[in-house]
Amino acid sequence: MPIYHTLGQMPRKRHIVFRQGNGALYAEELIGNKGFVGPSSLLYHIQQPTQIRATRTLRALAWKEETDREFRHRHFRTARLGTTSSITADRIPLLFNDDVAMSFVAPTGEDDFYYRNAQGDEVVYVSDGSGTLETQLGQIPFDRGDYLVIPRGILHHYIFASPVRCLVIESRGYVRTPKRYRNEHGQLTESAPFSERDIRRPVNQLARDERGEFRIVVKKDARLTEFVLDHHPFDVVGWDGYYYPWAFNIADFEPRVGRVHLPPPTHQTFEGDNFVICSFCPRPYDFDPQAVPVPYNHSNVMSDEVLYYASSEFMSRKGIEYGSVTLHPDGVPHGPHPGRTEASLGQKETTELAVMLDTFHPLRVSTQALDVEDRDYYRSWIE
Ligand SMILES: [Fe+2]
Repeated sequence: MPIYHTLGQMPRKRHIVFRQGNGALYAEELIGNKGFVGPSSLLYHIQQPTQIRATRTLRALAWKEETDREFRHRHFRTARLGTTSSITADRIPLLFNDDVAMSFVAPTGEDDFYYRNAQGDEVVYVSDGSGTLETQLGQIPFDRGDYLVIPRGILHHYIFASPVRCLVIESRGYVRTPKRYRNEHGQLTESAPFSERDIRRPVNQLARDERGEFRIVVKKDARLTEFVLDHHPFDVVGWDGYYYPWAFNIADFEPRVGRVHLPPPTHQTFEGDNFVICSFCPRPYDFDPQAVPVPYNHSNVMSDEVLYYASSEFMSRKGIEYGSVTLHPDGVPHGPHPGRTEASLGQKETTELAVMLDTFHPLRVSTQALDVEDRDYYRSWIE
C-alpha cells in the first residue's frame, strides 16, 4: 500500500546502531517484494530472524484440475464443503490459473503454528466470523465483510472470536488499489470509491521476547515446509515502511449508481496482475424511470468471471445460495435469469452482497470443487 506506516521503536536513521537494554544490537530486516526496489518495510527484531533450529517438508499442495475440462457455466456451493482443520494449511481449492487462485476455508480451530505465504499475496475475504490477525508487524482486528490483504512473506497467525468462513484469493503479483483510483503521487483521489481512511493498518506492535520452540509453516513452490525457531517469531519491536498487511471492509466501499446501469468495473476494489476484484454492495438502483436495473447479457471476451455470493440475494440470478461461486467463462454469453429483467423494472434498491474475481486468462476447476457442483447450472437460463 502506498501509505507510509510505522509502529513501535526504531533508530533515528535506517541502518545505524540500535541497541537493546542488555546492550545487544537489534537485528534489522528488510521485507518487501522485487528485492530492494519494490514496496518494503524495515523491521527490528530482538533475535536474529535467520536462526532456524530444524526444517522439514510437510506436504505438497499441488492443485489438481478436473480430468476432462468442462466448458460451460459452472456453479459450486461452498456452504456444502464442510470444515477443515487450518485456515492456512487446509484450504479447499476451487479455481486457479498461473496468476491467481481461489480457495475456501471454514477452519475448526486456531493454528498451533505461524504461517507465511512465500509464493503469493493473499486477499482473505471474511464471509463470516471475527477475530484478530496477528502479524510480525502488529495486529489487525477483523470482522465479517473484511478483506484482509496480506502481502507475501508476512508471517501471521489468526485468533478467532467466533467461527470464520473465508474466501481466499492468492495472487502471484502484488495486490494493490486500482491505478485509476490513484493520482500520480499514489494518493487515492476524491473520485475513488474508498479512501485511505477506510484502510485499516496494523496496531499494537507485539514485541514478544520469548525463548522456546516455535513452529513456522511456509508455503513455497506449492508445498508446505515447517521451520522450527528457538524464539518467538513475533519479536519485532518496531518497523516502518510501505509493506504491511491491511484490511478493508466491503461495507466501506462506496457503491456508484447511474441514471442507467453501470458496468462491473464501477465496483472494482483491488487490482492484481491479470485479474481484478470487485465488490457488489447494497445500493439504490439506477434512477431513470425507464432504466433496466439488472445487467444486460454479456460475453466476457478474454475474461473469466467468478462471483462469490456473500448473501443469498442477487438481483439477476436464481438458484444460487449463500456461499455460491459461479464461473462464467470466456466464450459463452451470460446474463439475467428468465423473468429477472422484467421483475427488476421499477425496483428501487438491491441488498446484494458479492465479491467478483475477473481473470484475464482462463481458470481451471479443482477436483475438490466438483464435489459441490450444481451440474445443471448451465441449463438454468431455460424457462
Ligand atoms: Fe457478468
